Amino acid sequence: MAIESSCDDTSASVCRDGKILSNKIANQTVHQKYGGVIPELASRAHMQNIVPVVDVALQEAGVILADINAIAFTQAPGLIGSLLVGSQFAKSLSLALDKPLLAVHHMQAHVLANLIPDRKPSFPFLCLTVSGGHTQIVLANSASDLKVIGETLDDAAGEAFDKSAKMLGLPYPGGPLIDKYARDGNPTRFKFAEPQIKELDFSFSGLKTSILYFLQKQVKENERFIQENLNDLCACIQYTIINILLKKYRKAALQKGINDLCIAGGVSANSGLRRGFEEMCNQNGWRSFIPAFEYCTDNAAMIAIAGYYKYLAKDFSELSATASARASW
Ligand code: KG4
Ligand code: ZN
Repeated sequence: MAIESSCDDTSASVCRDGKILSNKIANQTVHQKYGGVIPELASRAHMQNIVPVVDVALQEAGVILADINAIAFTQAPGLIGSLLVGSQFAKSLSLALDKPLLAVHHMQAHVLANLIPDRKPSFPFLCLTVSGGHTQIVLANSASDLKVIGETLDDAAGEAFDKSAKMLGLPYPGGPLIDKYARDGNPTRFKFAEPQIKELDFSFSGLKTSILYFLQKQVKENERFIQENLNDLCACIQYTIINILLKKYRKAALQKGINDLCIAGGVSANSGLRRGFEEMCNQNGWRSFIPAFEYCTDNAAMIAIAGYYKYLAKDFSELSATASARASW
C-alpha cells in the first residue's frame, strides 16, 4: 500500500509483485480560485480525503488491510504540512498492522513510474523528470542508484508553463491549458530567446521575463492582443519550452551513450513534449518510454512501485523517519 500527499493530490495505491492493482487520486479543487496551491488548505483537504481514498484503493484492489505486507509513503520533497498528513497516516498504519515502512523520495518515484508497465526500460536508462517544482535529467543505473546529471538553476519547466499561462490570464494550473490551446496555434509565429546554459543544466527564468516584456509591449499597442492570438502564443511558448528540454536531453543521451530514454512528471503529460520526445528518439534509434497519463502527474502508484523495489532490497525505514520539505537526493 502506498500513500502520496506531497502537494495538492491525495492518492493511495495498492501493488502486488510490482503490478498496480489500484491507483486512486483525490484532486483538490479548493485552490483554483487563488491561482496557486495554498499549503494550509492542502493539508486540511488531505486530512479529509486520506481515509476515503485509502478505503477505495483497497476496495478496487480487492484486498483488505490485513493483506498488506508493507506501507510506502512520500517522505520528501513537497509541502511540509501535506507531507506530514501522509507520513503520519502511513506510520500509524505500519504501527497498527505491524508491517514495515518504506520512505520514498517523490522525485525518484517519478522516475521509477517508468517501471510500472510491462514494457520497461533496461538499466542504465535516462529520465527527463519535468514537474511543477523540478526539472532534472536522471541517470538510472538501478532502482536504487539514481543520479541527477542535470537540473534547473531557477524555475522548473512546469513553473514556466504555469507562470506563462498566468501572464496570458489563464487559471492555475495553466500547463494543461497551454497544451490545449497550442494544438490550434502556429508554433513558429513568435520567437522567444532560449537560454545558453552550460553542461546539462536548464534555466527558465529568462524565458519568463522575455515573454512578459513581449506581452507588455504588444498589449500596449493592442489591448486585445492576447485574446486575439491566444492559440499562437500558447503554441510558441510550448514550442520554446520543449525545445529547451529536448536539446539538453539529446545532449545528455549522446554524452552518456544511453539508448533507453524515459520522461516523467506532470509536464510529461504535455502532448507536444510526448510527440517531440518520440520523434527525437526515433531519429536517433533510441527506445522511448512514457508513463500513462495517470502515472505522469502526482499519484501513489509511482510511490508503490518505488516502495516495491525498496521492499525487495529490504530497505525499510524506522518509525522515526520524518517528512521533509526539502530532501537530499
Ligand atoms: O508532477 P506534478 O503533478 O506535480 C509536481 O510534483 O510538481 O506536476 C505538475 C505540473 C504543473 O506545473 C502543471 O501545469 C504541469 O505539471 N502539467 C502540464 C500538463 N499537465 C500538467 N504542463 C504542460 N502540459 C500539460 N499537459
Ligand atoms: Zn510530482
